[in-house]
Amino acid sequence: MALLEGKVAIVTGGGRGIGRAHALALAAEGATVVVNDLGEAEFGGEGQSNSGPADEVAQAIVAAGGRAVADTTDISDWDGAGAVVRAALESFGRLDIVVNNAAISRFGPIDVISRLDWERTIAVNLTGTAALSHWAAAHWRETGPEPGRRIVNTSSAVGLIPWPGNPMYTASKAGVAALTISCALDLAELGVRVNALAPAARTRVSATVAPDLMKPVEEGFDRMAPENVAAVATYLASPLCPYTGRVFGILGDDLTVFDGWTVSRHLNNAERRWTPQDLQAALADVPLQQEVTAQAIPGVEAAASPPKEVLEALAALEKA
Ligand SMILES: NC(=O)c1ccc[n+]([C@@H]2O[C@H](COP(=O)([O-])OP(=O)(O)OC[C@H]3O[C@@H](n4cnc5c(N)ncnc54)[C@H](O)[C@@H]3O)[C@@H](O)[C@H]2O)c1
Repeated sequence: MALLEGKVAIVTGGGRGIGRAHALALAAEGATVVVNDLGEAEFGGEGQSNSGPADEVAQAIVAAGGRAVADTTDISDWDGAGAVVRAALESFGRLDIVVNNAAISRFGPIDVISRLDWERTIAVNLTGTAALSHWAAAHWRETGPEPGRRIVNTSSAVGLIPWPGNPMYTASKAGVAALTISCALDLAELGVRVNALAPAARTRVSATVAPDLMKPVEEGFDRMAPENVAAVATYLASPLCPYTGRVFGILGDDLTVFDGWTVSRHLNNAERRWTPQDLQAALADVPLQQEVTAQAIPGVEAAASPPKEVLEALAALEKA
């Protein structure tokens, strides 16, 4: 029997890129899919929207013998996300899997971005994920505990080990990782496992960020194919996955298990409030860089955070 036979899934941003691959992969494993996509013309979320991408994917699933409907709701709208859950229930009578994949990406350091950039990025990437999780979980709470429910969120390696240049995206994806863990704790009693992906694949987003990765593959394994990410999403959505509250990185065949914030040191001040001078002395042997113990992003060397160039630039300025 197919892995997801009888399951009903919602995939947000399912009309393009990684979400499209998710929708097709879940359907290939027997799931019925609500393909949600606003059809944003630009990945920065500034273009016109249209129903083309969601329609195309839903039609492809139906043409292959599966069941799917297209949905063009903007998932950043809290009540709109509720309408997507209702669409699944009205069309197919149940809901088992939510794949929160839709996101936008805008760039620029914190002093350059606008309030609108900030609000829209957080609205789509973080509020959209929270809103759909809210409505799905509210439905599941109403119907009572049942095994086999899944939420698959989409974080990013840069949300866990931040890079410069896109603070809104980075913060939104760090929020998604934290939301994943928190929801996993709350929803276990309803039979819901909640995990997140930190994907990388060839899409219109990576075309802008890393054009080198967009080079077509002439032969052999296509590392940048979105289908590589969809395979891991399928696992996380399936009964084969025993995890909850975890984040998995995937690029090609490189799988990364992120462990989130960990505590490296505990210092106690013998029942005295810390003074700045106490802290300076006590922290003297705490390294200025946090070590990243494994290669977090394939192709990018494991590095300490913040990188030594950042510390050197500050030190040079302070000496001048
Ligand atoms: N491509 C990568 O290498 C990469 C790396 C890290 C994380 N990610 C994450 O993977 C996910 C998919 O990224 P992608 O590269 O396939 O992007 P994409 O832009 O190709 O696809 C995203 C889809 O989401 C839709 N969308 C945007 N806003 C929406 C909204 N408010 N409501 C409904 N749909 C909406 C868009 O119309 C688009 O079709 C995102 O969460 C992204 O942040 C991607």
